[in-house]
Amino acid sequence: MTSGPSLPVPTWFVGCGNMAGAMVAGWRMAGVDLSNAIAIRPSATPVEGVRTVPTISDAGRPPQLVVLGFKPQKLDEIAPQLRQFLTSKTIVVSILAGVEAASLRHRFPGVGSIVRAMPNLPVAIRRGVVALYSEDAGDALRQQLGDLFVSLGWAMWAADESKFAAIGAVAGAGPAYVARFISALAKAGERRGLSSRIAATIALETVLGTAWMAATTGEAMDDVARRVASPSGTTEAGLAVIDKALDDLIEVTIDAAARRGAELAEDARVP
Ligand SMILES: NC(=O)c1ccc[n+]([C@@H]2O[C@H](COP(=O)([O-])OP(=O)(O)OC[C@H]3O[C@@H](n4cnc5c(N)ncnc54)[C@H](OP(=O)(O)O)[C@@H]3O)[C@@H](O)[C@H]2O)c1
Repeated sequence: MTSGPSLPVPTWFVGCGNMAGAMVAGWRMAGVDLSNAIAIRPSATPVEGVRTVPTISDAGRPPQLVVLGFKPQKLDEIAPQLRQFLTSKTIVVSILAGVEAASLRHRFPGVGSIVRAMPNLPVAIRRGVVALYSEDAGDALRQQLGDLFVSLGWAMWAADESKFAAIGAVAGAGPAYVARFISALAKAGERRGLSSRIAATIALETVLGTAWMAATTGEAMDDVARRVASPSGTTEAGLAVIDKALDDLIEVTIDAAARRGAELAEDARVP
């Protein structure tokens, strides 16, 4: 029997809310050993499967791997407390949206490697998308972290930081946009007399079934749409409306998020 990927011992999750908690849940589901992982969060709200403490000084043995899982705005509060526990061997993995590798290196100058990861929420069920980026990780570390993140879904190393940001712009926030689309579909069902429960279920199953089918067959989305829409039929009438608006809407949506990402990057940049 081959063993799966493993977390360096010990691993600290500094901040373990929605996103880092989703990563922990995914790794737990993948059978990754979490017995030497520690979640640090002021509320000390328990994280299933992981010893949870309220402060960095309660965490014990210094970490080999630190996952930064707090909000970007907390970086300058937390980095000075954390720095003293890190060495030239420590790997820092940051999931902070927008905060660039150079800004992280400035806060953690002596650490071994700095890696940016941009996961999305479905990592909790091992169906996430994760972008990875590092300026200093060697091949062995790339392999080790790649194996860990692939166990959470689909993961790739980005060639440069702008590609990393592009993957994050689509995938990191993507589940929120997809959730809105599903609920818009459900509301349309409700307005046509379906109960909210039935409308929510058919909207969800329609999106799930379509994505699953395309993922299984590899069929392009244009072909999927073409197969649903017969010439001059009902779907074609609907597509004539959505096609006018949807691409532009998604573009301005992702632009707005990217602008906010640029602001966060600017705030964290060294003057
Ligand atoms: N949510 C997403 O889909 C998503 C996707 C990609 C990247 N991200 C990134 O993930 C990071 C966290 O986002 P989130 O959505 O998970 O936020 P969240 O649920 O609010 O989690 C933030 C975590 O930081 C902890 N924290 C606050 N102050 C702290 C301190 N002084 N020391 C240590 N921990 C502290 C919080 O502790 P308590 O639990 O005790 O409050 C909480 O566990 C952000 O940088 C975000 O950019 C999020």
